[in-house]
Amino acid sequence: MIDKIKGLLKETEEFRVKSAEELEHFRLKYLSKKGEISQLFGDFKNVPNEIKKEVGQEINKLKQFAQEKFDQFKESLEDADSESSSADLTRQGEPIELGSRHPISLVRNEIISIFNRLGFNVNEGPEIEDDWHVFSALNFPPEHPARDMQDTFFIEKDPDILLRTHTSSVQVRVMENQKPPIRSIFPGRVFRNEAISARAHCIFHQVEGLYVAENVSFADLKQTLMYFAKEMFGEQTQIRLRPSYFPFTEPSAEMDVSCSICGGKGCNVCKYTGWLEILGCGMVDPNVLDKCGIDSEKYTGFAFGMGIERIAMLKYQVKDLRLYFENDVRFLKQFKSAY
Ligand code: DAH
Repeated sequence: MIDKIKGLLKETEEFRVKSAEELEHFRLKYLSKKGEISQLFGDFKNVPNEIKKEVGQEINKLKQFAQEKFDQFKESLEDADSESSSADLTRQGEPIELGSRHPISLVRNEIISIFNRLGFNVNEGPEIEDDWHVFSALNFPPEHPARDMQDTFFIEKDPDILLRTHTSSVQVRVMENQKPPIRSIFPGRVFRNEAISARAHCIFHQVEGLYVAENVSFADLKQTLMYFAKEMFGEQTQIRLRPSYFPFTEPSAEMDVSCSICGGKGCNVCKYTGWLEILGCGMVDPNVLDKCGIDSEKYTGFAFGMGIERIAMLKYQVKDLRLYFENDVRFLKQFKSAY
């Protein structure tokens, strides 16, 4: 009996399996109920007592070996199987899904591109600023409400360090560091201590514009802004300038564009006025030029500032500002553009 077991052990050792049928053959021959090993167990009762222990151990060894061998064969067949079936080399690759730019970036890039065509370059300034660049150099009187804690996020007091509330601060930095002619725009983030709602946010984006040279006039400002409005909202767009007040410009104005949704007839977006306010502007106050080291006897300039969210809302008819900050891909996916 021992010899038979040893013979079977040798047989199983040498057994090779190349297919599922051969594997099944192995199983039937050695491991099934009617297989060799079961038969050995059947014959075990006839083994003389003196060698029962030794024979029992040998049968168990054989059984364990055959089972391991079977498992190995099975695993290697499965591996070979999955490799050959999944590697379909003729299959097309997954297309890479293209993202879309954030609408605020799109509108910012479009604004930059429009002003580039008029010869404006781009400058940037810091978001964390001092009182001088945000307020004092821009003629804000000490008691001006914009300086109030209610509007401004202060980081330090005395001397005041704060988050800029407008990109007009970059005007000051550029005038302090560059000589006229200056023809530049300044896009960037600004911060105001406001409750978040559909129409207001504590973080938003502005683009500021500045042109300082000899003989810059209000007519130049109007012409520049009209070009911008038509490029941004369409050739049929009309503009309207209303007198206004800003500490750093004199005279100052606010600009409306004819409502691109109803074409000026009146709708709920323009509140039935036919006009939409989009920016503030004016001639740079000579005081501001002087404070920034530019000779106001020789040079004049105009400036303007607009909110990117506001323009994006009008362009894309988005009614809730908060959508721009939530990063919901269902919203963002809708914006595809050349910019
Ligand atoms: N800084 C102003 C604001 O945040 C916008 C503005 C108005 C900018 C008039 C200008 C300007 O350059 O001339 O509301």
